[in-house]
Amino acid sequence: MAKILVTGGTGYIGSHTVVELQKVGFDVVIVDNLSNSSIDVLNGIEKITGIRPAFENIDCVDYVSMDRMFEKYKGIDAIIHFAASKAVGESVEKPLLYYRNNLVSLINLLQLMPIHKVKNFVFSSSCTVYGQPDVLPVTESAPIKPALSPYGNTKQISEEIIRDTIHANPCYQSTILRYFNPIGAHPSAEIGELPSGVPNNLLPFVTQTARGLRKQLLIFGDDYNTPDGSCVRDYINVVDLAKAHVIAVQRMLNKRAKAHVETFNLGTGRGLSVLEIIKTFEKVNGVSIPYKIVDRREGDIEKVWADPSYANNELGWTATETVEDTLRSAWVWEQKLANRVKAE
Ligand code: NAD
Ligand code: WQD
Repeated sequence: MAKILVTGGTGYIGSHTVVELQKVGFDVVIVDNLSNSSIDVLNGIEKITGIRPAFENIDCVDYVSMDRMFEKYKGIDAIIHFAASKAVGESVEKPLLYYRNNLVSLINLLQLMPIHKVKNFVFSSSCTVYGQPDVLPVTESAPIKPALSPYGNTKQISEEIIRDTIHANPCYQSTILRYFNPIGAHPSAEIGELPSGVPNNLLPFVTQTARGLRKQLLIFGDDYNTPDGSCVRDYINVVDLAKAHVIAVQRMLNKRAKAHVETFNLGTGRGLSVLEIIKTFEKVNGVSIPYKIVDRREGDIEKVWADPSYANNELGWTATETVEDTLRSAWVWEQKLANRVKAE
């Protein structure tokens, strides 16, 4: 079976993708420098699939170590590149950290691909490239808007670097996946999101508030031009998202891609407001989330949700998990984390 390098494979989306890759028989090598994840994630993956993936603690910015890694695991067929720094606020404060980590990692991999004869590359991009779209739902052909943060800019620049590189070397191919808002955890609760410090994203803040780790959730604005005034996003189950990566890899390996670079939106096609997420979370989990409406957060997009029909039709992939089940999985995972802390 084909061998897949997963950078950032102990991270949130990476770990769920490793599970789905192993489930269909792919041989996985993880490279992660554990800057935003824990080595314990490997135990979770092994518990679910019965297979412990090969793991290398390497920084993708380190070209020489990456080169050696490709030598060690000869015959890698495809790369799924998750490894990146992703905190929007931190990227505003430390732009060079973001440009170096996200861009140098990418450039190293693209340079090493021809040397080690790796032909297929999947990249984690983001709906952040659309900014506030003029038309909703947003399709892949919508204009790219000026980035609102250095993090967002790294995704835009990365997409351009990939397009230019593949254009110059058409025997390589790439799939660019633009994620909307991934939430939830594996139904086994063996893996999930592990935010470090105070979470910036909505869902980990909600689950930590439900657990009592945070006093209350601050809702950033209720005066937007949306049905209830709070922002609207396309929240996608992380396992659904992971499965799309498996299909993207298979499509390239089986020579079914229709272009050297293909770009897909990965979302559900449904927009939900912050207040809807909170109400649904409370209802399905039987817990209450104390919250307070505060001012808008700088740089927030008012509303965005995907038109996923291109991915639905071309990849034969559709997000199938309900938001109710997804919010249940997030709460089960948070409770598991709470129990781990108690046991320590
Ligand atoms: P994550 O932080 O959980 O996972 C990223 C992993 O990469 C971590 O395990 C981290 O230790 C590792 N890493 C970072 N820099 C590295 C480096 N230089 N060398 C080796 N390993 C490194 O994040 P995630 O949510 O799983 O995101 C995965 C990818 O998806 C990222 O590229 C992110 O920008 C992108 N993305 C995430 C979201 C989201 O909301 N989570 C949305 C859109 C796109
Ligand atoms: C969702 C909604 C907030 C926290 C970010 C990145 C984006 C992508 C996904 C990687 C918004 C509201 C949040 C809180 C709140 N990541 N909120 N109180 O902003 O859509 O996107 O993560 O590519 O690039 O920008 O996600 O989870 O931060 O926020 O009211 O404590 O929840 O205002 O409307 P966002 P988020």
